[in-house]
Amino acid sequence: MSPLIAPSILAADFANLQREVEMLNSSEADYIHVDIMDGVFVPNISFGIPVTEAIHRHAKKPLDVHLMIVNPDNYLEAFRKAGAEVISVHYEACNHLHRTLQAITTLGAKAGVAINPHTPVELLSDVIQDIDLVCMMSVNPGFGGQKFIENTYSKVSRLKDLILAKGAKTKIEIDGGVNLQNAPKLLASGADVLVAGSFVFNSSDPVQTISQLKEIALV
Ligand code: DX5
Ligand code: ZN
Repeated sequence: MSPLIAPSILAADFANLQREVEMLNSSEADYIHVDIMDGVFVPNISFGIPVTEAIHRHAKKPLDVHLMIVNPDNYLEAFRKAGAEVISVHYEACNHLHRTLQAITTLGAKAGVAINPHTPVELLSDVIQDIDLVCMMSVNPGFGGQKFIENTYSKVSRLKDLILAKGAKTKIEIDGGVNLQNAPKLLASGADVLVAGSFVFNSSDPVQTISQLKEIALV
């Protein structure tokens, strides 16, 4: 099965967002990954609700919104209204994760949980049935273009085992430093969705790069 591909708009040319979104519309991308950074949870600020709305206005692909923010509960409704199809909150930013997941589901979005590289997958054991997607960070969140952390492979395998053991339908998304070198092993380890920012947007032909990622299949 080929992976689902979620190019990260963080690596796009922000002065030409409409053109970049239209490029993604014409590609084999399955989602548009939208990185929201508040300068508090992560040491960087990206963009917020109006820009997400503007992306949504042109997008023909569902928006996969990754909230790297503190107090995400305060903004779930706004991002849903702005067009988020998937909303991922950080495990490390939620004191009452189960409640937050319910709130996302009630809004009609898919509920995602992002985990930092230091967060063990086992911490999700008791809520895995309530999670549609785990966004596993394979870099420390905050910036595009960082180096992939190799320990991710074993985390993916452990998370896959946990999902199967619980009979959950949770998808595993990998976020950070994904490229054509590490993608096959990520898939073999159990990944379902690959986020790719700089690898796609810095390539000479992003549409073709997306196709190449999409063509990786498990034999
Ligand atoms: C990192 C973001 C990632 C990032 C991925 O904080 O969550 O989604 O945009 O970019 P690359 O693929 O360049 O690592
Ligand atoms: Zn992200």
